[in-house]
Amino acid sequence: MAIRRIMVLGEDDVLRKHARRVDKFDKRLRTLLDDMADTMYKADGVGLAAPQVGVLRRAVVIDVGDGLIELVNPQIVASEGAVVGAEGCLSVPGRRGTVERPERVTVTAQNRDGRAMQLEAEGLLAVAMCHEIDHLDGVLYVDKMIEDVTDQDDEDGE
Ligand code: NI
Repeated sequence: MAIRRIMVLGEDDVLRKHARRVDKFDKRLRTLLDDMADTMYKADGVGLAAPQVGVLRRAVVIDVGDGLIELVNPQIVASEGAVVGAEGCLSVPGRRGTVERPERVTVTAQNRDGRAMQLEAEGLLAVAMCHEIDHLDGVLYVDKMIEDVTDQDDEDGE
């Protein structure tokens, strides 16, 4: 396990590229997921996507306080409602902005062994999933930002 360097917006166009599907569930993937979790926790984040550490693969890690979730090849297959909340991003340090996200999402993904799973999420977990899955398509929250709230009171986010 190791801490990897988090790419910052403007530093590298890797954050703007489309990540490829994971097709090999091997030791390399397990190491990537382990390192991503270490890197996320070290940075006090609640989510991290592989492109943020320079790897163009569809893998994300999330922990909104209820334990680590690893999602490989995640897809939002259903969403419901809309809610506006403040978000931050480890690749856009020191800034926060409001974004509209679904209230509830259904996500399909694989685990690190390639086993298919389906998750229902709401609240902060749903927001984190949308935010991280956007990263896999080169989309950052600032692209969807309604208002920059960097200097306003802090809220939980990722
Ligand atoms: Ni982010």
